[in-house]
Amino acid sequence: MMIRLATIQFTPVHRDREANLEAIEKLIAPVEADIIVLPELCTSGYFFVSREELAPLAEAPGGVACRFFQRLAGEKGAIIVAGMPEVADGRFYNSVFVFRANLQEPLIYRKAHLFYKERFVFEPGDTVFPVIRDERLDISIGIMLCYDWRFPEVSRVLALGGAELIACPSNLVTDAWRKVMPARAIENKLYVAVANRCGTETVGDETLLFKGCSALYDPWGEPVSLAGAEGDAVLLVEIDPRPCRDKSFNEFNDIFADRRPELYGAICKR
Ligand code: ACM
Repeated sequence: MMIRLATIQFTPVHRDREANLEAIEKLIAPVEADIIVLPELCTSGYFFVSREELAPLAEAPGGVACRFFQRLAGEKGAIIVAGMPEVADGRFYNSVFVFRANLQEPLIYRKAHLFYKERFVFEPGDTVFPVIRDERLDISIGIMLCYDWRFPEVSRVLALGGAELIACPSNLVTDAWRKVMPARAIENKLYVAVANRCGTETVGDETLLFKGCSALYDPWGEPVSLAGAEGDAVLLVEIDPRPCRDKSFNEFNDIFADRRPELYGAICKR
């Protein structure tokens, strides 16, 4: 079955949830997709160094943005993957919330690898890397969050868990990922959707520039759809998860069957 995947790029307004939900609703309204991937911290903006500033924007199931996305998921009959700040037991996490039309509770993944000054406000994630199985669409979706890309273990764990698509909400401020995300797709033979944001945010005398260039890579690492460095974009692509289930790439080699995990835990130093 072909699956319609929308990867969304836009420029969130720093600390203005209402404006961001409005922008997201406008971008998504004309989109007919089965899976919609939005950027990291898409309801709040990215750059926080104070928990007091972050607190009013942090989400928990049942919160303003959760209700908004749950409604949209129901109306669209889509899976919505959205990065948002989360609060749980007074602690803040940089999280991905996954909303499904038929489920009231979102699945939550808390970012494992915190980037740069995120450590000033967020706790390191304590959830496992999720793979969401959707029987209706017949696809398994793995979730990682932005800087997780620098850790090949994450995409490999997701792939070994059956992911055929990795959805990666992002707020990327470097360009290195553009060389590496296609490798994550090739080495695991799966799709990688990078929903990045654009624009700048300034805190004190420091400005961060977000690099846009959202992308969908196919299981052979080819860019199927690419956004520009600036501006809103909806990358709408049909994907077929079936080739991702066969990890061979010639008659003798299969990237899962050829693994040698018994050799990966030890180093011989001479
Ligand atoms: C990042 O993790 N936002 C680079």
